[in-house]
Amino acid sequence: MYRKQEILEKLTGIQSSRKSYYSELIYLVEEMKKKNNQLAVINQLTQIQINATWPETSIAIATQLQLILPFEHFALSLQQGSALSTYLSRWNGEEWQCQSWQHTASTDLAQAAQRLHDSISEVLPQHLATSVPLQNLRKQTFGFLTILHHEGQQLSKEESELFQLTASHVGVCVENILLFHDLSEKVKIEAQLVQSAKMAAIGEIAAGIAHELNSPLTAILGNSQLLLREMGTSEAAPLMNDIYRCGVRCKKIIQNLLTFSRQEEYQFEEVFLDDVVEDALGLIGYQLTVSGLSIQFEQAPAKLSFYGSRHQIEQIVINLLLNARDALAGQQDGRITIRTFLHKDENRSYAGLSVHDNGMGILPEHLPQIFQPFFSTKDRSKGTGLGLSVSLGIAAAHGGKLWAQSESNQYSLFTLLLPLSFDEEVDHGEETDPDSR
Ligand SMILES: Nc1ncnc2c1ncn2[C@@H]1O[C@H](COP(=O)(O)OP(=O)(O)OP(=O)(O)O)[C@@H](O)[C@H]1O
Ligand SMILES: [Mg+2]
Repeated sequence: MYRKQEILEKLTGIQSSRKSYYSELIYLVEEMKKKNNQLAVINQLTQIQINATWPETSIAIATQLQLILPFEHFALSLQQGSALSTYLSRWNGEEWQCQSWQHTASTDLAQAAQRLHDSISEVLPQHLATSVPLQNLRKQTFGFLTILHHEGQQLSKEESELFQLTASHVGVCVENILLFHDLSEKVKIEAQLVQSAKMAAIGEIAAGIAHELNSPLTAILGNSQLLLREMGTSEAAPLMNDIYRCGVRCKKIIQNLLTFSRQEEYQFEEVFLDDVVEDALGLIGYQLTVSGLSIQFEQAPAKLSFYGSRHQIEQIVINLLLNARDALAGQQDGRITIRTFLHKDENRSYAGLSVHDNGMGILPEHLPQIFQPFFSTKDRSKGTGLGLSVSLGIAAAHGGKLWAQSESNQYSLFTLLLPLSFDEEVDHGEETDPDSR
């Protein structure tokens, strides 16, 4: 009898009399289910996408953690340089929403956690915060996971241990994301360098050709003007007028080429957005119209200016127009619409530019990748896949934004926003939504 009891205990892990055997077994099964659930959640947490943004990462962690821990809201904080960036995910009853802010970090762990709790309590005053540090393999703290709960929701000892354990797994994952961001930044910079070198080479050639053409053109313009005057109303006058007008057009193209290739154009100055579009159209507009496309340029009612590099923003416009041309290749009723508009958000006002084409559009699975360096769906001979990544870099360097919307076989719409150089201009302008058309 004694041996039988012993064997039973060893097999089931339950030390009990027969009477309570079943209730203990049920308890044990429940505990195992709970542990399984916790393992599944930890497993999910280690599978967060490496290319996820920080708000997406914060929401992904919150969603999983909520399955095993009691809390209301969640925050992921990361030390980047001397700042601690916090991504607070709040549950609004239907979905998670993330907001972020930064404050100065502290090298002292307890002080850093206290500062973090203080900054969170400014946003969520009625909540208690519990944080665990995120550490790398060298045991250096590089951030925190924080859960926010009401007074009655305190974690049990077991739950606190579970929170610590999860943090160690999440730490590895978050560190990988950090490394990935670092690496992508390097690839982007490299791409910018390649593109700048390419542009510099083109610029040099263009400048050479433009200089060569400038002198004969001056003679063509001067002489045709003289002859026009002498011809008066003769029959050949309209032909001479044509020569003169074409000469003026060539002169404009040459001037644009010279501007495009000049290095000092990288200097920042106050620039009117419409002028940049006109310059870009002066350079490649003809090329586009001979491909059979119709181009429409709708200007904002007020002149919008930004503080930046005329040359670099022109580069963005040219990249967008050339992409639109490629997307319309072989299409009958190809249309490109360029619009400039004023855009306001809660913080500031922007000079906006959109380029719309009714071309082949972008496949949904390609859309998240088009701004990545070297992503191209074109022939190797046609596209390097650098145009958009460089454009995005330029927009960011101007404190602006660039994004794309598209529907396959319908349209593509690229929108660029650049901070307005003078906010008072806002009063004269009429706001237009970039998405409305
Ligand atoms: N207007 C558009 N319509 C459809 N697809 C587009 C459009 N603009 C960009 N794309 C897609 O985005 C990809 C990346 O564009 P990006 O300008 O970065 O490179 P590219 O045009 O292929 O090469 P590059 O500009 O370096 O010569 C393109 O290959 C194309 O698939
Ligand atoms: Mg391109």
